[in-house]
Parts: sequence; C-alpha cells; structure tokens
Amino acid sequence: MFYETAANNHGLPRDPYKALIVPRPIGWISTVSKDGVCNIAPYSFFNAISEKPHYVIFGSATAKDSVRNIEETGEFVCSLSTYELREEMNVTSAGVPHGVDEYPLSGLTAVKSTMVKPPRVKESPAALECKHWKTIELPPAEPGGKHGSFAVIGLVVGIYIDDAALKDGFVDTAAMQPLSRLGYMDYSWVSGDTMVTINRPEVAPDGTVKG
Ligand SMILES: Cc1cc2nc3c(=O)[nH]c(=O)nc-3n(C[C@H](O)[C@H](O)[C@H](O)COP(=O)(O)O)c2cc1C
Repeated sequence: MFYETAANNHGLPRDPYKALIVPRPIGWISTVSKDGVCNIAPYSFFNAISEKPHYVIFGSATAKDSVRNIEETGEFVCSLSTYELREEMNVTSAGVPHGVDEYPLSGLTAVKSTMVKPPRVKESPAALECKHWKTIELPPAEPGGKHGSFAVIGLVVGIYIDDAALKDGFVDTAAMQPLSRLGYMDYSWVSGDTMVTINRPEVAPDGTVKG
C-alpha cells in the first residue's frame, strides 16, 4: 500500500505513521512554571540530536504546558522512563489544567536537580538537565492549514546517573529497562534478551571495509 499524508487516505482503522517510527524513546519532561509550579509529562517525539554539544529535541502537538513553561523559564529535565515506572509515566500524561503538578498525582518523587530548577524523577535511573535553546514552530503541511506543532531544542548541561545503573564503568541498559513507545497504545522495553553488540566497520587505507 501507499498513501499520501496530506490526504491521509490509508484506509486503515488508525493512522499507521507512528507505528512505523519505532521504538521511540520517551522524554519524560519536567518543567517549572513562572509561578514555581512543577509539571511533568511524557513526550515520545523525543531524541538526542547532537553529542558535541549535547542537544536533545522533543515535539509537542500544540504549545502544551511543558512548552509554555520552557518558554517562560528556559529550563527542563528529561528523566528516563523505565518499564518499572510505566504506570506512573502514563499518569503524568493526563491532560490536567495548567498549574496542576502531576508529580503528586503519579506518586512520583520530585527531587532537586543540580544545575536547573525543574526537578528530576527520583525513582528514575537517569536524567538530563537542559537549558532551552530554541523552540521552532513547525508550519502546517499546507498554507493556512490548522495543524502546526512545536519542536523544542535544549542543551544538556548536566547528566544524572544512578550509580546502581553503572556496571564496570558502562551504563547497564538492560538493567534499567528503558521504556519506549510503539504505535497505537503499545510500548516496548530493552532487556538483555533483546540487545546485541555490533562494532562499527573498519575502513582500511585502501578503502576496503572490514566487519
Ligand atoms: C508515552 C507517551 C508519549 C507522548 N508523546 C507525546 C509527544 O511526543 N508529543 C505530544 O504533544 N504529546 C505526547 N503525549 C501526550 C502528552 O504527554 C500529554 O498531552 C500531556 O498532557 C502533555 O502535558 P503538558 O501539557 O503538561 O506538557 C504522549 C503521551 C504518552 C503517554
């Protein structure tokens, strides 16, 4: 099958787009409003986009509370969501009014970050502390169309890792069981059984590729 996204004429019960971009990491974004109220919500349009310097991005369908707080206060934290924290993560996606702190709703513990004001999730094994760089308003597909969205880019200025998530100096990904989003309402997570190590190919001076 093939369909044009503008017409969205896939003929399927649900739009398949997001089920094809999988697994997506979940940026569990903490922010603080200008009035000092905490906010936390999951965003699976999320990824690292640069390592030197460390930049991350997330996409918001509208200017949701996270975007608004980041615009106002310039900081956010991305905690790592895990299989163990899946239910709490889901609670934080509730569409509560602006000014309602999702931390107490979810039973999660907000713990002070080191370099920025928004807290990280204490129960999560890792967190990225970010300073806002830029929000890009993505235009609708057609001029005058109604759906635009927002891409928020932040510089990662500090990284928290629970010592228990480190093994012999390496992040123990299998032990953390990071949660990822699939299509529809489906999720997946990394475990030892689903990991494989593949070294990068070496290119010899004569151009031959080994491995
Ligand atoms: C796993 C998961 C991933 C999500 N990813 C996104 C996303 O990438 N972009 C988005 O706009 N909403 C996403 N949502 C919905 C938001 O979390 C939800 O609208 C939330 O209420 C936004 O909170 P905020 O207004 O406090 O920022 C996701 C929800 C879940 C459960």
